[in-house]
Amino acid sequence: MMQAMSRLNAQAILVGCLLAGVRAAEAQPVELYPGNPAAGRRVFVDRDCDRCHAIWGNGGTLGPDFATAGAGRSLLQLAGLFWNHTPGMIETVRSRGYEWPKFTEAELADIISYIYYVKLFDAPGDPEAGERWFREKRCADCHTVGERGGENPLDHYASYVAPIVLAEGMWNHGPEMQAQQTRRGLSLPIFVAREVADIQAYIREASSIRDRRIELLEPPDPNRGRQLFAAKRCTACHGAAGEGTDYGPDVRMATQRLTVSEIAGRLWNHSTLMWQAMRARGISFPYFEGSEMADLIAFLYYLRFYETEGDVRVGARLYVTKGCAACHGRDQASEAPDLADSGAVLSPLGLATAMWEHAPAMFDMAEQEHREWPRFEGDEMRDLSAYLRSLALERDSAGGGPDE
Ligand code: HEC
Ligand code: HEC
Ligand code: HEC
Ligand code: HEC
Repeated sequence: MMQAMSRLNAQAILVGCLLAGVRAAEAQPVELYPGNPAAGRRVFVDRDCDRCHAIWGNGGTLGPDFATAGAGRSLLQLAGLFWNHTPGMIETVRSRGYEWPKFTEAELADIISYIYYVKLFDAPGDPEAGERWFREKRCADCHTVGERGGENPLDHYASYVAPIVLAEGMWNHGPEMQAQQTRRGLSLPIFVAREVADIQAYIREASSIRDRRIELLEPPDPNRGRQLFAAKRCTACHGAAGEGTDYGPDVRMATQRLTVSEIAGRLWNHSTLMWQAMRARGISFPYFEGSEMADLIAFLYYLRFYETEGDVRVGARLYVTKGCAACHGRDQASEAPDLADSGAVLSPLGLATAMWEHAPAMFDMAEQEHREWPRFEGDEMRDLSAYLRSLALERDSAGGGPDE
């Protein structure tokens, strides 16, 4: 299914221009996204990451399973985790006589995007729990599953495993469903956690349809979702990149650590209030077709991934406390290059790529000089990157002369 993702293939042009907006003041509307998870999957296999890492249990077990590891982390936070495990990898790679795997910036973006992307998908829901939600949320008052000639049957949703088509159907019929519910005095159902995935699993198990073939869906595309976010008028109330406005809250954090079914639940819960507000302002209800809701969900999910605004002052402190200054100090007759002269530090991904490439030499020097290996937590890599970039830009605007 990942092979079909060429639409996402945008990284070449984008890595640079997107990540250029490092400081808050410079942050610009994002054009398209770097990192192609389908390409990342190939790199993951080609570079033997799967010898030690699995996705949902498929692969090696020496390292953590990426279906769960690093959940809710942005691109640069994941780059930090990736960096932290260099010493362990250097030792393994050397003891087995392998070569140090190198990446281009685009490949690193792809592979991190893949590690991020796999967490968007739900593990299959629990049909027993789903049957309970179906009753408790009163779906059973108006719908049937597995009954001949039942009222408003939902059996045809059984050809899907992923809950997204069901969520889209609910969304599209939302206004009518809500009108009927109000008329009948039923309370509107609210979804938490993975309840939508559970209901989907229940429909799949209990359905009366004979043809049990699974209809595979195209993998969701965040770039298309971004266009839909504007086309469906979500931007009437939310900022184009998910930021808050006078009419709607910031949605960048709303999808943190959530999967498709959870995000679909949030959207549904939000639909009543949204619908009222839209009617009041003369905006028509946004209907979704085909993969549109999935794409929109992927867009919401990726909002946090590309967060790149770093804090230069925090970065300057980290440069010293992480020990970079000790080796990369300009005045020392040192083998470590002056980072302000390095084009690599101009983008966060460039920095991560260069550090990865030079890790074995850095590692040897750290061993010789008994220095601690720098590790990153939270947004430290992002902030450090913002600082190094500011140094390089300063040097640049001063003409790059030797005595600046
Ligand atoms: C020889 C085994 C081995 C190989 C090969 C390997 N890793 Fe790892 N990886 C580990 C181990 C062990 C850990 C956890 C311990 C650590 O952080 O050092 C880890 C941790 C990670 C983490 C941090 C996860 C977290 O939540 O902390 C990332 C990201 C990662 N690896 C990415 C990769 C990628 C990408 C590749 C392929 C280029 C790769 N690894 C190849 C063994 C390996
Ligand atoms: C008060 C009655 C009522 C309740 C309660 C209700 N629905 Fe509906 N639902 C409807 C009606 C009526 C339609 C059809 C609207 C139409 O035909 O446009 C519908 C349509 C749907 C559709 C689209 C059906 C299709 O053929 O594509 C889905 C999916 C759906 N409902 C799921 C649910 C789920 C899941 C629940 C429980 C959380 C639920 N509904 C609760 C009345 C209800
Ligand atoms: C008319 C204004 C308006 C429009 C249009 C609108 N929203 Fe919202 N949105 C809000 C408001 C107000 C809230 C906070 C209250 C709520 O959750 O219902 C919100 C909240 C959200 C949340 C956060 C929910 C949570 O659980 O934290 C998400 C996600 C969201 N909107 C997505 C969308 C999407 C996607 C669209 C387009 C299909 C959209 N919104 C269109 C006003 C709007
Ligand atoms: C123990 C000494 C040491 C420490 C500590 C150290 N480095 Fe290095 N670094 C080196 C050496 C040596 C090289 C050159 C390696 C080579 O030539 O392959 C290097 C290379 C690099 C490069 C590649 C430069 C280029 O132009 O391609 C980057 C980027 C880098 N280091 C960043 C950092 C950052 C950021 C830190 C702090 C988190 C850090 N280094 C900490 C020794 C160190």
